[in-house]
Amino acid sequence: MKNELIVISRPKSGISEAIKTIRTNLQFSSIDHKVKSILVTSSFSGEGKSFISANLAASFAQTGSKVLLVDCDMRRGRQHVVFGLNNEKGLSNLLITSLDKKLGYYIQRTKVDNLYVLPMGVVPPNPSELLASDKNKQLSEILEKEFDMVIYDGVPIGGLPDSIIMADLVDKIVIVCAYKQTPMEMLQNTKKSLDKFNDKIAGVIVNKMPSSKNHYYNNYYN
Ligand SMILES: Nc1ncnc2c1ncn2[C@@H]1O[C@H](COP(=O)(O)OP(=O)(O)OP(=O)(O)O)[C@@H](O)[C@H]1O
Ligand SMILES: [Mg+2]
Repeated sequence: MKNELIVISRPKSGISEAIKTIRTNLQFSSIDHKVKSILVTSSFSGEGKSFISANLAASFAQTGSKVLLVDCDMRRGRQHVVFGLNNEKGLSNLLITSLDKKLGYYIQRTKVDNLYVLPMGVVPPNPSELLASDKNKQLSEILEKEFDMVIYDGVPIGGLPDSIIMADLVDKIVIVCAYKQTPMEMLQNTKKSLDKFNDKIAGVIVNKMPSSKNHYYNNYYN
């Protein structure tokens, strides 16, 4: 399996540079309030939300900030695989217990300094309901106090309420699309679905763009 944490394994690559630029832009995207939480979403499956959110989280951690990556895709999340972690307990398990329990029981340290992951946990029958719960709102407030930055790996907007629910809880939203794969109309619909949160949309990341300079590492796209 390929190592997807490219900002760690290939810090000088074009894609790592691009992720760093996105990090900087996000840091400057709010003048009055420090950005503390970011939702990564997209229109459909496979555009690169998990890849981007993992690398963005690692990139923030490289600046010395204490970062948490939350896998809120409780249907088919895979951050535990990306980071080689146990998924026996995670977000879903945390949301059905008392929040008084130590968060450290669910949140795992990673091999990347300053970077922690809350994996999806056991697949629940009602992911949207769990995300819409008061407990999830309380949890997001607690996490923002505990960490300098919280990054949420979301689910596609198309047909599911999950990312719309999460959009309400974060400071900024990043929409990922895939070069030559995401139809413009679909991207526009995604943006329309997030209309209520227009001020929070930090931008669109065009992922999977082939780069002529990139041919040596051609298993990665810019
Ligand atoms: N820039 C990139 N370079 C190389 N591979 C990439 C890139 N972006 C994504 N991928 C690969 O594409 C596949 C799909 O990406 P990913 O899982 O991040 O998509 P996703 O939007 O999270 O999908 P889902 O909605 O199913 O969770 C993965 O195998 C990932 O490693
Ligand atoms: Mg994903």
